[in-house]
Amino acid sequence: MVSIFSELAEQVSTEGDSTFPLMPVGEAVDMGHTADGVPLFDPRIFDSPEFFRNPYPYYRILRDHYPVFHDKLHNTYWVTRYEDITECYFDDEGFNTIPKGSSSGVLGNTQLELSGVEHRRRRNLYGQHLVGKSLKLRVPAIERLAQEMISSWDEQAGSEFVIDEGNKRTIELGKVFADEFPIRVVCEVLGFPKDAQSDFYYWYNSMMSGLGGSTTHKQGLEARQHLEDYVAGIVAQRRQEPTFLYDEAGNPIGKDIITKLCETKIDGGYLSTEEITSNIALIVGGGGETTRGAIMNLWCLLLRHPDQFQAVLDDGDNWDKAFHEMLRHSSSIGGQPRQNTFDVEMHGVHIPAGSLMQMVDFSANHDERIFAEPETFNIFREDLYTGKLLRSGYRKEGKCNHMAFGVGPHLCPGAWISHQEAVSGSQILARHFKNVRIREDLMPKDIDNLSSAPMGIVSVRSLWLEFDRQLA
Ligand code: HEM
Repeated sequence: MVSIFSELAEQVSTEGDSTFPLMPVGEAVDMGHTADGVPLFDPRIFDSPEFFRNPYPYYRILRDHYPVFHDKLHNTYWVTRYEDITECYFDDEGFNTIPKGSSSGVLGNTQLELSGVEHRRRRNLYGQHLVGKSLKLRVPAIERLAQEMISSWDEQAGSEFVIDEGNKRTIELGKVFADEFPIRVVCEVLGFPKDAQSDFYYWYNSMMSGLGGSTTHKQGLEARQHLEDYVAGIVAQRRQEPTFLYDEAGNPIGKDIITKLCETKIDGGYLSTEEITSNIALIVGGGGETTRGAIMNLWCLLLRHPDQFQAVLDDGDNWDKAFHEMLRHSSSIGGQPRQNTFDVEMHGVHIPAGSLMQMVDFSANHDERIFAEPETFNIFREDLYTGKLLRSGYRKEGKCNHMAFGVGPHLCPGAWISHQEAVSGSQILARHFKNVRIREDLMPKDIDNLSSAPMGIVSVRSLWLEFDRQLA
């Protein structure tokens, strides 16, 4: 969930000095060659602006020549091929989710750092409420939240992010929708009172930046403490009186997740407030930035491929295909760290027990051994599996899943709800947008100062859209 890339991205400004020149997209800097013509790889590239805007050619070098790359500068083993990564993900005892305690300062002691039975027991506490029938019952609430946010744009007209000119309206999709929508959804599903939503959004933002670096760590810890104090009050109430989620007609559809967590016993004892807070922090932390990035990238990619955008407008079923292909092409998460329990040898590289290994999901998704022409965004590609997501079934009908939700025991439990949020939210947005286009003139520019900056390794930060206003 918390990937090394999101942390690095915050530290690397695209305007900073680089020891590597910025290249045309798709072309790598020449880092030298061995006597027999094998390209050399300089790990300083990972910290450069060039890498963040143009990562594909560098991952290709790693996949082709150094599928396990021992990076002595960052003290890391980078694993970049699809098959190798899936093998490690399925073996969560041999390749632990780590580093132990890395997120515990802010998120608390979460299941992300557990494996085996301990992991399964905690995961089952809430996972069932984010899938299947429970999720279906929540769809109307998800749609209502999307609609509420869109309806508030009229009130925001004239602000920095909602600009009306004649019958045209320009918005920045992140600021007026995607940044907050996933947090509102999670807040509701967890069962937080509506009047706590803005505090919740503040705690979420502070905790997330607290994971990124030492300057913001203190603020993250404070936010975590505020959240825990708030949750303590809610837990005391829910232990006395459970609360429910309701359908749009006002009928109860089941207890909310916080109530369920309050009723849960492990080893004969109830979960403590600290444990409940950690679960909440993990669910919110896991579902905010990731789903925000998914919505932003989905719209950016579709609008830059107008024929495919038309195809989703013509046939609503194509939104699912577009969602999965977007996650394959430009996932909002770069990869996950693991630590090997035993000494292992992979592709001739000896990896001593306890090493930091980075599984690069982003590279797996662009592995040409699995996906043809991986850099092309094509919602109709034949080699991507877009059916029902199965933890154990990443390969079905001769097609492979993308790796954006991981695979195996830690497969994202929020995959289904984030899919629902992105697709339902986008369908409602699409109904509202008439003649929508990207305001390329407002988008950040690439090195030629003319074309728009490439997506690179992180999700689109801001997306300026213009569409026809629907005047009463
Ligand atoms: C497009 C959106 C999302 C993406 C790309 C994503 C990605 C991921 C990935 C790659 C993992 C696996 C971590 C690992 O293997 O170590 C993960 C785990 C997790 N995700 Fe998501 N996620 C998304 C949305 C969500 C949402 C909406 C929620 C909550 C409602 C969520 C909650 C979690 C949790 C709790 C875990 C830890 C699971 C475990 O360790 O067993 N995620 N996510």
